[in-house]
Amino acid sequence: MEEAHRTARANAGIRNEARNTMARTTITTQVAIMGAGPAGLMLSHLLAKQGIESVVVEIRSRKEIQETVRAGILEHGTVNLLVDSGVSDRVLRDGDRHDGIELRFNGESHRIDFKELVGESVWLYPQTDVFADLAARREADGGDVRYSVTDTTVHELEGKPKVWFTDAEGREFEIQSDFLVGADGSRSHCRRQIPEAARTQHFHEYPFAWFGILTEAPRSSDELIYANSEHGFALISQRTETVQRMYFQCDPTENVADWDDERIWTELRKRVNGNGFELKEGPVTEKMVLPFRSFVQSPMRHGNLFLAGDAAHTVPPTGAKGLNLAIHDVKVLFEGLDSFYATGSTGLLDSYSDHALDRVWKAQHFSYWMTSMLHSLPGADDFGRARQLGELHSVVSSQHAKAYLAEQYTGWPGSR
Ligand code: PHB
Repeated sequence: MEEAHRTARANAGIRNEARNTMARTTITTQVAIMGAGPAGLMLSHLLAKQGIESVVVEIRSRKEIQETVRAGILEHGTVNLLVDSGVSDRVLRDGDRHDGIELRFNGESHRIDFKELVGESVWLYPQTDVFADLAARREADGGDVRYSVTDTTVHELEGKPKVWFTDAEGREFEIQSDFLVGADGSRSHCRRQIPEAARTQHFHEYPFAWFGILTEAPRSSDELIYANSEHGFALISQRTETVQRMYFQCDPTENVADWDDERIWTELRKRVNGNGFELKEGPVTEKMVLPFRSFVQSPMRHGNLFLAGDAAHTVPPTGAKGLNLAIHDVKVLFEGLDSFYATGSTGLLDSYSDHALDRVWKAQHFSYWMTSMLHSLPGADDFGRARQLGELHSVVSSQHAKAYLAEQYTGWPGSR
């Protein structure tokens, strides 16, 4: 089915080249959005509520996005935006409120009590559910979202931006808009259209990755466990009563085919079990290696192109910040666009990049800190290992340090 679809699209591409003198069908809108992930759909939803038109184009199919396994922690600010803007209150019913996490090292668990420390919580609600809620809301509201498009190119970013694309039926279009938003993910096409001289890219590579699994097993713990051990890091997360999500630090070149269930559970046991705690095990139903890197492109604007979410920045998953940052970008960008269409003022649009990057760099630091505090760093000597345990002890024995962690994890107050 999928293969037939691809062939049809490829044929459509050849036919289009043959008749490229034919006019493209023009679509005129206020805001063109590349990418129908959570960032693109949330922006389109917020704009629609204010009567601002947008068209969203996405190269993946709706099914493909829906089936991609992604992370699951939402800050309270993200939850509030989903609920208050009327996307869905399913997060409050089907999501799990978590009032803390456990840091586990030297075989002992130490609870970081978010509620007590900073009066906030997070919600465990997978990104696939956030996407499903947003896609359903946009559909119910008659939003213009086009999945499975091909041949997307963007033009005239410094003037009135244009997006060319071919739809799933092979028809060619040009979107003419006031603004273009690149919410097209970590392999962003839009990001690459910004001239080199007009942007800076900040990279940090890590010498490891995460091996992620889904397993059919009962919950091992009600809260997330972030475990540091001499065998490497592990994270115990949940999905439902009967499906759990777990990760362990691995080499970036690891091949999932080399890992059968027994080998996976042996690794997880070594890193997490002990002192009366035992993981509840079951068959592994999915396994994947997640690459790890930190990336920021600044500024997040060029002419009338604005970047949002993974298109502009990537964080390692240890801080659970990726989706939350994307939603924060969109909130700030929406305020800028709304103010422009209401008053003609470009003030908030002009400060979008600085405003969004302020939080991005806080999140980069938090994700880097959690990563370096919890993972085994290849080549670390005895000093490095003992220092890391000293750091973990100093965090869990200080109310101030625990409150710092809790504040970062649950999301910084205010939008700046
Ligand atoms: C997840 O449940 O997938 C998850 C939770 C917390 C993280 C990363 C991933 O830091």
